Amino acid sequence: MKHIALVTGATQGLGYAIAERLLAAGFRVALTGRNLQGAQKVAAELDPTEDAAMGLALDTRNKADFEDALAAVQARWGALHVVVNNAAITQSTPVMQISQEEFDDVIAVNQRGTFFSCQVFGAHMAEAGYGRIINMTSLAGQNGGTSTGAHYAASKGAIITLTKVFAKELAARGVTVNAIAPGPIDSPMVHALVSGERLDALTAGIPVRHLGNAQFIGELVVQLARPEADFTTGATWDVNGGLYMR
Ligand SMILES: NC(=O)c1ccc[n+]([C@@H]2O[C@H](COP(=O)([O-])OP(=O)(O)OC[C@H]3O[C@@H](n4cnc5c(N)ncnc54)[C@H](OP(=O)(O)O)[C@@H]3O)[C@@H](O)[C@H]2O)c1
Repeated sequence: MKHIALVTGATQGLGYAIAERLLAAGFRVALTGRNLQGAQKVAAELDPTEDAAMGLALDTRNKADFEDALAAVQARWGALHVVVNNAAITQSTPVMQISQEEFDDVIAVNQRGTFFSCQVFGAHMAEAGYGRIINMTSLAGQNGGTSTGAHYAASKGAIITLTKVFAKELAARGVTVNAIAPGPIDSPMVHALVSGERLDALTAGIPVRHLGNAQFIGELVVQLARPEADFTTGATWDVNGGLYMR
């Protein structure tokens, strides 16, 4: 049986690369985004036969969207084994200027979304006795962030904690929960946030002297999504070019 995965925020950047690597490794993948047409477009792009990929609308601000996505995947493929909580918004507003509305927005998409995803999909996986949940956090959640905002960094720190909470809750039921904490990756988000000379300075400050690779993040997700990855849970996997060692 092919294993079945769902990736949130798969319409661009790391989510797209993760979906691509999962498909290449033989998984069936539901690619999700806020907008159905956008999700269906990337699914068709990655799998023109439309046998192994499908696009679904899933806004991480709504718990009901996770329940609907689970029902849709089960209706199409009969099971769901892997969830990658990748969707996030990244704002870089200076800490003393963040409004209540903007703070709540970032926390709702990034942190609350990851919480309800782990709750809804985790319950289903525990019932089935098998599952792999992979949460995208960030170096910013470990070191407080540099180019990104306080709300973003706080949400990513919380995701590291949620990863441990759900890992403990689900470990005895065959479900592992891990996090990946990338430093700056060569991706549309980093180029939108930092450009020109600032990007050169950022790169020069990375011990390995280059940005990270999105395809490698996808390969790491594939490793953690395999049945063999049954002895790592509650862990945060650092991919930061040596920017943060612990
Ligand atoms: N790029 C990096 O260097 C880097 C570094 C550290 C951590 N990360 C983490 O890696 C993940 C992916 O980053 P990225 O750079 O690929 O981000 P990105 O390019 O900004 O993509 C974010 C994705 O999230 C989706 N999204 C936004 N709001 C959403 C919502 N309310 N509900 C559902 N989906 C939503 C977007 O899709 P739609 O707009 O179509 O909905 C998009 O596909 C994030 O968790 C980020 O924190 C990235």
